[in-house]
Amino acid sequence: MAITIQNDTGLITLATCNTEYQMKTDEYGVLLHTYYGAKIYGSDMSETISCRERGFSGNLTVGREEIRSYSLDVLPQEYSCAGSGDYRISGLSVLDSNGGRSCTLRVAGTRTEKGKYSLEGLPHVYDENGEAESLVITMKDPYSALEAELQYSVFEKSDIITRSVRFINNGSEAIQLEKAASLCLDWQFGDYDWLTFYGCHAQERNLQRVPLHHGVQSIGSTRGNSSHHYNPFSILAEKNTDENSGLCFAFSFVYSGEFLMEIEKDQVSQTRLVLGIHPANFSWKLEPGMSFQAPEVILSCSSEGFGKLSRNMHKIIRDNVCRGEWKYKQRPVLINNWEATYFSFDAQKLISIAEESSKLGIEMLVMDDGWFGKREDDYSGLGDWYPNEKKLGCSLKELGEEINKRGMKFGIWFEPESISEDSDLYRSHPEWAVAVPGRDPVLSRNQLVLDISRTDVQDYIIDRMSDVLSNAPISYVKWDMNRSICEKYSASLSADKQGEFAHRFMLGLYRILEELENTFPHVLFEGCSGGGGRFDAGMMYYTPQIWCSDNTDAINRLNIQYGTSFGYPVSTVGAHVSAVPNHQTGRVTPFATRGAVAMSGTFGYELDITKLTDAEKEQIRRQIQRFHKYYELIQRGDYYRLTSPKDPCVIWSFVAPDKNSALITAVSREITANSAPVHFNVPGLDDRRLYNAVFVLPEADDRPLKVIEKISGAALKNGGLTIPVVQWWEYEAWQVEITAAD
Ligand code: DGJ
Repeated sequence: MAITIQNDTGLITLATCNTEYQMKTDEYGVLLHTYYGAKIYGSDMSETISCRERGFSGNLTVGREEIRSYSLDVLPQEYSCAGSGDYRISGLSVLDSNGGRSCTLRVAGTRTEKGKYSLEGLPHVYDENGEAESLVITMKDPYSALEAELQYSVFEKSDIITRSVRFINNGSEAIQLEKAASLCLDWQFGDYDWLTFYGCHAQERNLQRVPLHHGVQSIGSTRGNSSHHYNPFSILAEKNTDENSGLCFAFSFVYSGEFLMEIEKDQVSQTRLVLGIHPANFSWKLEPGMSFQAPEVILSCSSEGFGKLSRNMHKIIRDNVCRGEWKYKQRPVLINNWEATYFSFDAQKLISIAEESSKLGIEMLVMDDGWFGKREDDYSGLGDWYPNEKKLGCSLKELGEEINKRGMKFGIWFEPESISEDSDLYRSHPEWAVAVPGRDPVLSRNQLVLDISRTDVQDYIIDRMSDVLSNAPISYVKWDMNRSICEKYSASLSADKQGEFAHRFMLGLYRILEELENTFPHVLFEGCSGGGGRFDAGMMYYTPQIWCSDNTDAINRLNIQYGTSFGYPVSTVGAHVSAVPNHQTGRVTPFATRGAVAMSGTFGYELDITKLTDAEKEQIRRQIQRFHKYYELIQRGDYYRLTSPKDPCVIWSFVAPDKNSALITAVSREITANSAPVHFNVPGLDDRRLYNAVFVLPEADDRPLKVIEKISGAALKNGGLTIPVVQWWEYEAWQVEITAAD
């Protein structure tokens, strides 16, 4: 039983294999949050709460009687509201029809359900194997008609809890939700660091670890999407936590739009985290009888450090967020023509790339931006999703068939949510572009945003894309979105509902994706937003892989993929080998290193293969063989970060879940003369079993350069391995293959 409710004491416990989460309804109907952490076997942790009078804190008032030692301002609560006497950051803020901004919630009932609750129209964790149990706690505002259902699902074996909230207006007048967070979580004790993942275009998800200080710290996005700038994933950790030990908590927002993740360390050094849709551009008019569903948050807790925490997140996203035919199916090794040709290509060029690629084992050609409308550069064409047969020199069907004839699948790029002013679509429907009346809209990459909060616009995209996908042999779609959204305004919404635009935009996006994927279940959808601008668990529900960054430099990618690995599995990470000098950094790295780094992702190429030397082509052939050989291990194995990306040598490993094998990759990021040997430990194998370890330089012909026979899993973990070279060169890569010797 993952969920236990004790009606006599009010104690509610959510138990996973290694963790417990506890709440308690107290004598006033307030839902206290009493514990989240390692196992406590059902003990009532409300004993840790000490109530005393706090100056200037709002105290609970029953009738007109003030209970002076009971203040919501300092009590750990499950879901706190603004205007309740709790002056800390809170989950909910409402505006009543009378202009009042007070709200408070009391427990009105609980119910449990087998399986996972589901969220209509929103991405969410799902449960195919009957692992989950769910709990709904009904909360009511004693003074208004507002009801909130706190939703929880427990994935016991996976150490995962999901949370969300549904708001219902049971009254006869509208209630305005000004903030409707999905998660509010309190820690009474502890001194924490916060790990967040900041960045920018082409340099996403840099890890930042900072101590919490008194006051409020926050990350978020008001850019209309989750953004390159702050990922909607973070970790709270005790000070001593490292990869292999220490208590830490993960929070992943299953949402691709604007978000706010705030943490407050309060007057008595307690910690509160609130996560949800960013309130800056949000307000929702909850009409009588209507409900509002907040997006979902995935929570995990590990007392074995960040490594275990990440593996929990990898598993739940891989198995219970990513969906569809391509969830586990072997994804094709692709070649994308973007960095090879940019906008200058025709069918002949693409066919010549396909011709060469298929000889080397590449399985799919992806035609990127520039195949439709009038699109010779980024000034025009977006919205006109009609193949430009004049430019291509043939129809899309003919092109796809030519690619197929060469033994390759055919994929295609779209940017459905954008519109160019210089497009037939804009000329016929200027009102479909997002803009505030009377103001010139802000341009970005010379383009505007299409108002997909509108059903007619959603239908247009579904119709156009369906037409293209039905009339050519297309196996893959790269779904791009190349700007942030400045104006949060829709011509189809009344003035009092403009605050709903940003969220309605996301609901529109999710509806389009859902419909297209139901109609074209065999098509593999890859997400993209100028690389990793929408790299979140929400998009992963629709697109099981996402182009991780527009930065293809193998050395920069070490950092990007490292940061990404804290919250997301390798099977979601789009990674390609590109040409040198690299187009983003000008750096020259060995072909083998580019392969070794891209291989820790969904793997593909992004270069003009017709211009490569025979030796490079031979490397491609062997890289693909290696990738296929290790496909399961890489895509489904347990991921271990063995160093930081700031170390001179960056090392990571994959360990098979049955502990039969492992693959380690090491890249020399920065070399100094006469350096110390590169040594690393290999955790995750079976202590008592014996293994063989084979060192290879992936650039050579895969001949073993050193073999260690019959070394125990314990020796690999505790004693480790040393790269067997006297001098290692900058940017060189090594791989070590470990297989069971028994
Ligand atoms: C941004 C993407 O991240 C690139 O890979 C490429 O598809 C361009 N857009 C095309 O405009």
